[in-house]
Amino acid sequence: MHPAPDAPRFRVGVIGYGWAATAHIAAINATSRGRVTAICSSRPLDAADLSARHGGPIEVFRRVEDMLADPAIDVVDITGLPSLHRDQAVAAAQAKKHVILEKPMANSPREVADIVAAAAANGVRGCVCFECRFSNQFQVTKALLDEGLLGRLHYGEVDYYHGIGPWYGQFRWNTGKKDGGSALLTAGCHALDALLMLMGTDVESVSSLGTRSASPIFAPYEYDTSSVTILHFKSGAIGKTAAIVDCLQPYYFHTHLVGSEGSLLDDKFHSMKLKADKGHWSKLSMKMLDSGDVSDHPYQAQFQAFFDALDKGQDMPLTSFPEAKKTFDVIFAADTSAARGGVPVSP
Ligand SMILES: NC(=O)c1ccc[n+]([C@@H]2O[C@H](COP(=O)([O-])OP(=O)(O)OC[C@H]3O[C@@H](n4cnc5c(N)ncnc54)[C@H](O)[C@@H]3O)[C@@H](O)[C@H]2O)c1
Repeated sequence: MHPAPDAPRFRVGVIGYGWAATAHIAAINATSRGRVTAICSSRPLDAADLSARHGGPIEVFRRVEDMLADPAIDVVDITGLPSLHRDQAVAAAQAKKHVILEKPMANSPREVADIVAAAAANGVRGCVCFECRFSNQFQVTKALLDEGLLGRLHYGEVDYYHGIGPWYGQFRWNTGKKDGGSALLTAGCHALDALLMLMGTDVESVSSLGTRSASPIFAPYEYDTSSVTILHFKSGAIGKTAAIVDCLQPYYFHTHLVGSEGSLLDDKFHSMKLKADKGHWSKLSMKMLDSGDVSDHPYQAQFQAFFDALDKGQDMPLTSFPEAKKTFDVIFAADTSAARGGVPVSP
């Protein structure tokens, strides 16, 4: 059953007012069910200015606990520094607010487990910003797999190439281990998450290695900014994710899937089932993930799915807390493997 057209919208309070937050606010307000009504920032912000900029009344809070105490907030959207995600998400759940949480959920397995447990214990739901799952590119790719056009996958690689240098605002905190974490945690997580969406989440073990560019541009990073992870799935299939945040090239989200009936390479495919010419690729018409700019990301579709699931009293599809935790469990196993020189580690 759909809510009545005039059903009250979910009132969203946003924590943090940086780059991601501005894309979130536009996306939330563009859904049929959400409206940003509050912003919490340690910086002094002007409520009248924000209300005018975002097209509706917005209250400003300086302290997270004051915003969480406000009964007029239904959902809290956490867009601040990753090292604060755990405490803010747990406090929001304890205040009985549903939670939108930017990636990474947090930078340690213990913190991610705390967040998932706090939501379950308090009867609230979560949405992790693995919005690439809602992209046209991966929705079409998944539909192709579901139609059986590639048969049974035995190999898949999804890689993330995006140079995050001083030209990015988040460089000032992303270079630190505390908030950046690793090449996978800070950005490559989108590629690993897409690989798991396409290949399944039953991972037996992972082996990972890390290194870094010799360019002085990336010297401030406190961790390896390139990593490659090999996945061994319980089904016997194998996969690979490269997480490269120190490259000097255009943004590139690379996908190559190989199955018993054909292959897919980004927006090209061949399927024996269609009897097309195997010597040439067939082309898929879809909007590709070809930009790191948050204003290009499919947040609106993801937030709409979250609000629709809240209406039904259910976990959202694709990017709920329990589903996203599976990806972070694999990432933490990969980073442990890299720290041990590449030995296989089970999630
Ligand atoms: N899903 C995605 O594709 C995606 C993309 C970008 C960022 N993110 C995530 O969103 C979160 C925030 O990243 P971001 O790019 O918005 O970072 P940001 O640097 O723009 O903002 C981070 C924090 O710094 C604060 N801040 C911003 N400018 C400030 C200033 N001048 N003075 C003091 N504080 C300031 C913000 O309020 C926010 O709390 C991170 O978890 C990041 O990983 C996700």
